Amino acid sequence: MVSSTATPPRSMAEEADFLQIKAFDHVHFWVGNAKHAMYYWWKGFGFKPVAYSGLETGNRRFASYVLESGKIRFVVSAPYSPTDEMAAHHLLHGDGVKVLALEVDDVEKAYRETTSRGGVGAWSPREEADEYGVLRTAAIRTYGEVLHVFVDRADYRGPFAPTYKPLDLPADSIGLAAIDHVVGNVQLGKMNHWVNFYHQVMGFRQLIHFDDQDISTEYSALMSKVMQNGSGRIKFPINEPAEGKRKSQIEEYLDYYLTPGVQHIAMATGDILRTVRELKARGIEFLRVPDAYYDMLPERLQGVNVKEDMAQIRELGILVDHDDEGYLLQIFSRPIQDRPTSFIEVIERHGSRGFGKGNFKALFEALEQEQARRGNL
Ligand code: FE2
Repeated sequence: MVSSTATPPRSMAEEADFLQIKAFDHVHFWVGNAKHAMYYWWKGFGFKPVAYSGLETGNRRFASYVLESGKIRFVVSAPYSPTDEMAAHHLLHGDGVKVLALEVDDVEKAYRETTSRGGVGAWSPREEADEYGVLRTAAIRTYGEVLHVFVDRADYRGPFAPTYKPLDLPADSIGLAAIDHVVGNVQLGKMNHWVNFYHQVMGFRQLIHFDDQDISTEYSALMSKVMQNGSGRIKFPINEPAEGKRKSQIEEYLDYYLTPGVQHIAMATGDILRTVRELKARGIEFLRVPDAYYDMLPERLQGVNVKEDMAQIRELGILVDHDDEGYLLQIFSRPIQDRPTSFIEVIERHGSRGFGKGNFKALFEALEQEQARRGNL
């Protein structure tokens, strides 16, 4: 009889997914004018403003609004004082994403597991209490100046966090339902560093790798690896520039953001035709690929049962891609602030878990036209 005192090995999946992230909690933009940013997401993207923090609520440091659409929660904040850390951030970067917050059951454990694996802490586990209960958070650093904040809301019933009071402003949702993925741009040669960070520190796995053969045009190229958490709910693609004849879109971003940062947030909808039609009616601008893209589309989509009306897809400038598992529809906005840095993707998936590889060439040629218009190609 063989006996052993060794504990049974935990399954690889269990070991790897030590963070057990439940969902995106929120994306926090640090901006120059929180009231204007709130209005943009409210009136432009159909988000509902649900909470406010500022002088009137006892917050002497910054003004902040929380907005929601489906499961998506955005927070926009701007400082009152020029000496605040948020003001320095805005001076350097312009408007941008400071926090990608992730909901977990156990903030202590998330912080301990990530920092013991080499993650750099931004703040250790803390509790903030008010009449709504206790909110637990901790934060670690990722690329550039971006933080991952771990949030546990189990004992908190408030509209967002202490100092935030409920807002009840009417809003018309245009169908933006959930965050599909959030892409980071990092410097040349740093992609694998951040891929390793998501693997070793966060327990993510690599889903896909695009190299400069997949994503190159005459002038510019980039490389990208998609990191995904254990549940598959959280997807963080990481881009780095690749050598090209001219300046790549990633280099342009880095020239204007000045550090690595969030390039785009992809939001899922169940009815992209309606969502994009509404966004356009509200003045949101999108990249437009040449009409030749649509002339070639029927051939590319042979055998794919696309349910949406092709005439409307073409009219709205929506892109279509497919793989073995199904198809997806996607579209990319122009930059959402003055600097050519962050933008928005709207995506509707029908089986495909890809990122629109078949659209990269047409899309990047359209992007280069925009770069050229800005004098940055
Ligand atoms: Fe994307």
